[in-house]
Amino acid sequence: MILVTGASGTVGRPLVELLVSAGLKVRAVARNPSALPRSVEVVDRPVLEGVTGLFVNPRAVGDDIDGLLAEGKGVLKRVVVLSAVNVDDDLDMQPSRWRGDRNTEVERAVTASGLDWVALRPTTFAANAFGLWAEQIQHGDTVRGSYAEATWSPIHELDLAEVALHAFLDDGLLGTRPVLTGPESLTQREMVSAIGDAMGRELTYLEMAPEVARAALVGRGFPAGFAAGLLSLQARSVGVPALITNEVRRALGRPALTFARWASDNAYVFGRAA
Ligand SMILES: NC(=O)c1ccc[n+]([C@@H]2O[C@H](COP(=O)([O-])OP(=O)(O)OC[C@H]3O[C@@H](n4cnc5c(N)ncnc54)[C@H](OP(=O)(O)O)[C@@H]3O)[C@@H](O)[C@H]2O)c1
Repeated sequence: MILVTGASGTVGRPLVELLVSAGLKVRAVARNPSALPRSVEVVDRPVLEGVTGLFVNPRAVGDDIDGLLAEGKGVLKRVVVLSAVNVDDDLDMQPSRWRGDRNTEVERAVTASGLDWVALRPTTFAANAFGLWAEQIQHGDTVRGSYAEATWSPIHELDLAEVALHAFLDDGLLGTRPVLTGPESLTQREMVSAIGDAMGRELTYLEMAPEVARAALVGRGFPAGFAAGLLSLQARSVGVPALITNEVRRALGRPALTFARWASDNAYVFGRAA
């Protein structure tokens, strides 16, 4: 049985479905069970009895990781941890720490646990586009945001879930930290345009001054340190193509899914079509 933490999350949800489709038993940790298939056992905290594989979402597990891994000694055969591309960077270059994520520490705990492990190190999730732009796109064709020319290589959550499934089923990734990216470097302006294409709408990206963008993020409830760190990362990426790796293809035998595909899969979330 595989225990999936953060099972209602961006990667956890498709991973649960893939594990079930692959015929594996799944126990899902989620605070809101209604987000998951009915065939899945849902618990509100990790229960390791009968579990051989553990998927770790650092946001969901946080400081409990050491206790969970200690409990898993002699029980777990494999741990797959959702880490991040920037875990070896200075801590001030990891804005998500301001939201409580402890990816560096959680990855380190897993890789030092003595258990068999795989550490997935994705770049930015394509799904971040929801939080950044969905509300504006639902209400009009102009998107105001920071650094139009900042670059990302956004990865589709289905690719992440499929690589995680592969990491449970195949020994090829054991003891590795694959850096997982989308297949192309795109500017934020191009990403918004791709969402518009998927909806049959022409969307315009209007760049805000960084100070205004920062205040807008804080006004929407993001911690000030997170907003500053995110904008700093974006500023550094202007004119620099985002990192692209071949790791999704290496694991899955097919190219990573494009952002255009992600936009088409998720266009309904962004609101009205033309
Ligand atoms: N977003 C990115 O671009 C990106 C890139 C690389 C790495 N990462 C890392 O990947 C991890 C997941 O990030 P995400 O943005 O995709 O988030 P997510 O997994 O979509 O959402 C968070 C998940 O964790 C659960 N959770 C949150 N706080 C919890 C708590 N206190 N106790 C128990 N469960 C809790 C949520 O459950 P509920 O549904 O119950 O709230 C949800 O299932 C993070 O460690 C992040 O740093 C993210």
